[in-house]
Amino acid sequence: MTGRKRAEDLRSHRWLGVDDMRSFGHRSRLRGIGYDAADWTGKPLIGIINTWSEINPCHAHLRSRAENVKRGVLQAGGFPIELPAMSLAETFVKPTTMLYRNMLAMETEELLRSHPIDGAVLMGGCDKTTPGLIMGAISMGIPAIYVPAGPMLRGNWKGEYLGSGSDVWKYWTEKRAGNISDEEWDEIEGGIARSFGTCMVMGTAATMMAIAEALGLSLPGASSIPAADSNHPRMCTNAGRRIVDMVWEDLTPAKILTPAAFDNAIKVHMAMGGSTNAIIHVVAMARRAGLPMDMDTFDKLSRQVPVLANVRPSGKYLMEDFFYAGGLRALMQNLREKLDLSCMTVTGKTIGENIEGAKVHLPDVIHSLNDPVYEEGATAVLKGNLAPNGCVIKPAAADKRFLKHRGKAIAFEDYNHMMREIERDDLDVTPDHILVLKNAGPQGGPGMPEWGMLPIPKRLLGQGVRDMIRISDGRMSGTSYGACILHVAPESFVGGPLALVKTGDEIEIDVDKRSIHLHVSDEELARRKAAWKKPAPKYPRGYGALYSQHIGQADQGCDFDFLAPLGPIPEPEIH
Ligand code: FES
Repeated sequence: MTGRKRAEDLRSHRWLGVDDMRSFGHRSRLRGIGYDAADWTGKPLIGIINTWSEINPCHAHLRSRAENVKRGVLQAGGFPIELPAMSLAETFVKPTTMLYRNMLAMETEELLRSHPIDGAVLMGGCDKTTPGLIMGAISMGIPAIYVPAGPMLRGNWKGEYLGSGSDVWKYWTEKRAGNISDEEWDEIEGGIARSFGTCMVMGTAATMMAIAEALGLSLPGASSIPAADSNHPRMCTNAGRRIVDMVWEDLTPAKILTPAAFDNAIKVHMAMGGSTNAIIHVVAMARRAGLPMDMDTFDKLSRQVPVLANVRPSGKYLMEDFFYAGGLRALMQNLREKLDLSCMTVTGKTIGENIEGAKVHLPDVIHSLNDPVYEEGATAVLKGNLAPNGCVIKPAAADKRFLKHRGKAIAFEDYNHMMREIERDDLDVTPDHILVLKNAGPQGGPGMPEWGMLPIPKRLLGQGVRDMIRISDGRMSGTSYGACILHVAPESFVGGPLALVKTGDEIEIDVDKRSIHLHVSDEELARRKAAWKKPAPKYPRGYGALYSQHIGQADQGCDFDFLAPLGPIPEPEIH
C-alpha cells in the first residue's frame, strides 16, 4: 500500500469496524468498560506496551508516563490502550534477565498480533527491555515508536557523584580490601540510587536507549533525558501524538531499519563507549529485521569510530551530565561525518534533519573527533583458537598493560567454584595470571549471566591490584570495567575450546591484532576434547527447557532459532 492509510485499512477495523457478530462482541465489551463508538470509530488503536512493575525501580515512573502517552494519542485522534508486559528488572530477576529477553520479545510480538493494534508505543529502558520490545515490534512489523525510561539522577555520597553499578563494583572491592567501613557502605547504599530511572552510567540501559534512538526508533534526544526531568513526560506525550500519524503514514520498522541505520547505531555505540552487551542485542535486532549481522561488523566499525562520550565506566561523568552537555543529538552532531544522515526515523524525517542545530555545551563531557576520549571505539572483537567465533573486550575500560599480554590461566569450572577459590588466602595467583570462568554462557549460565567481571582474588586486593585479565563465556554488566574478555563463542557448556582450558595453560591476548590464543597443541586439545563430557541439561521442563533447546550462541545474538524471519505470519482469523 502507498500513501496514507484509510480507516478501513486499519488492522483494528477488522475487530471493530465491520458488521458481524464478533465485532458486536468486541464493541459491546468496550462499551462495558465505558468507551463508546466515538472512542474508536475511524481511529488508530494504539497499543502502549508498558514494562512498568512495582519490582522494577528503573520503570517506576512508567505507570504515570503511560498517561502522558495516552494524552498525546488522544490529542492526535487515536485510541490508546495500555497492555502490560513483563518488566525484566535487572536487579531482581534471577538467574539473569537475559534468560527472559526473548520471552519479552515473544510477548511483545504476540500482544501486538493478537489484539486489534494499529501502532505500538514501546515503553522500557532497563537493560533487556529495550532489545526485547524492539525485537518483538520488528517481527510484528506494524508502526512502533520506542519511549525510553531515561536514566536516574546522579548518585551522591558526601558530595561525591556516584554512578550506579560502576561505583558499586568499585566500593565493594574497597570494602573487601578493608578500606570502607560498614557505616560508609550503608551511606553509599542510601545515596547511589537517588530517583527512579535506569542506571545512569553508560551501562547497557543507556547504551541500548541511545542505540534505539540512533536507529531512528525514538524521538530525537529522547534517550538522554533523565527520568525525573520534566522534559521526560513531555517527550512521552509527543511520542503519543507521533505514533498516530505514523500509523496513517504506515511508517513501519522495516522502512526505518536499513543496513545504514544499523551502521549508524553501531557507530553511536562506539562513540558512546557503550556496553559490550549491546553487541548481542544489535545482532539479534538486525537479524530480526532480516539483515545479516555478525561481530566482525562491530570490529570493523570500532576501528573507525573513537569514544567521544566521557561517561563512566570508560570516562568521568554520568548520564545527567551527558544530557546537560547536549545529549545524543549533540554527540551525533560531532559524529555526523561518520554517519549516514539520510536514514529515515520515526519523526518522518531523516536522522540528519533530526540532529540539525544540535550543539555540545560541555566539551569535556562530549568530545570531538579531533580530541576523542579514546582513539578507537568501545568494543574490540578478538578471535583465535580459544574463541573461534569471537569474543569481546572493552579496551577503553581496561588497564592498558593488559591489551597485549601472555599469562598462565587459573581455570574455574563454574561460578561457585570461582567464588570459593578467589577468597582463598593461599591461592597461587599473581597479577599476571589470567582468570578463566567456564559455564557462564547462554546454555551454561544459563542465560549468559553478567559474571564476566570476575572479582580480583582476595590475596591480590591487599597488594593494591585492581585489574587483571579475566576470560569467560558470560557477559558483564555495562556498568562494569576492567580487562574482561567476554562472550567467548562457542561457549564451554556446548564443548567450545574454553571447556578445555586447564590451570597452568598459557593464554596470549593481543587486542591490537584482535587475537586470543591458547598455547596448547592441537593434539593435546583433541585429547582433552575426546575426554570432555557434555553436562546434563539444566532444565527438565518449562520455559528453561524451551530456552536450552533453541537458544543461539552469543555471536548470533542469542535469539531463538524459531524466531528468525522465516516468512510473514498471517493475520489472525476472527471467528
Ligand atoms: Fe535497570 Fe540498571 S538495573 S537499568
